[in-house]
Amino acid sequence: MSKAAAQSLGDADQVIGIRPLQPTIGAEIEGVDLSKPISPEQRDAIRAAVLRYKVIFFRDQPLTNDQHAAFAAEFGPLYTHPSTTHDPKISPIHKIAAADAAKYEQRVHRDVKAGDGYHSDTSWRLVPTWGAVLRAVTLPDVGGDTIWVDANLAYEGLSDEVKARLEGLHVTHDFRDALVGAGHDYPIVAHPVVRTHRETGQKILWVNLTQKPQILGVELSESRALLDEILRQYKRPEFQVRFSWRPHSVAFWDNRAAVHYAVRNYGDFPRVLERILIADEPLYTDL
Ligand code: SIN
Repeated sequence: MSKAAAQSLGDADQVIGIRPLQPTIGAEIEGVDLSKPISPEQRDAIRAAVLRYKVIFFRDQPLTNDQHAAFAAEFGPLYTHPSTTHDPKISPIHKIAAADAAKYEQRVHRDVKAGDGYHSDTSWRLVPTWGAVLRAVTLPDVGGDTIWVDANLAYEGLSDEVKARLEGLHVTHDFRDALVGAGHDYPIVAHPVVRTHRETGQKILWVNLTQKPQILGVELSESRALLDEILRQYKRPEFQVRFSWRPHSVAFWDNRAAVHYAVRNYGDFPRVLERILIADEPLYTDL
């Protein structure tokens, strides 16, 4: 898809209903039944909406595991995360459970303060997954929202001085502890702090605050100061969309363009969502 097509919706809104939730990020999609095979026109319209709005939402979509996987597979090969609790039938389904999240926080988030856990999925990979389709399974009556940040707006929000400082710098994505714990030996990778989105051409501020980020080639104190500034941008409400889940809600996002944050304000409630990740084109060999 060309850059121009990626940023404009073309005739996507003739094929599906698109209701923007914020000017640049988040839209609710209507007029599609995800439990049934979608047409090529619907697939292209949905893809254009994800590229345009970075995260899109569907309401009232009761899906089986197979239907969830079939929908995600319309947008690329499915990726099985190494710490996936395997469904006996469909392996790529990754259960995101509150109990697992608590363990994960003890193991990985120990350096991350509450409210700071903005991240993108599988950024620890050389070729991260491009998309994710997340489905509500067990929800608290209230709370447990998810926030997505327009990481292009976050970049644009930086001062010219910080933009210039970040030019060409790389940041680490260190998920080794959790991966080794899951039996997956993978090195620590570094990606550019500012990535150019391959399809939209937008500049994306792309840091994973949950994976011990360190900006390479600068003093530790400067790395910390730059990361604080990046986090400050991610936290600006002007750059965010916040989604309140309801039973049978589905979110589909572009992991290359948005970072997200799960709001954990529901006590011991056993919240469960199920996520399927979509592999990106292997631009180079992954490990
Ligand atoms: C995720 O981080 O992929 C899941 C977000 C959530 O649990 O709300």
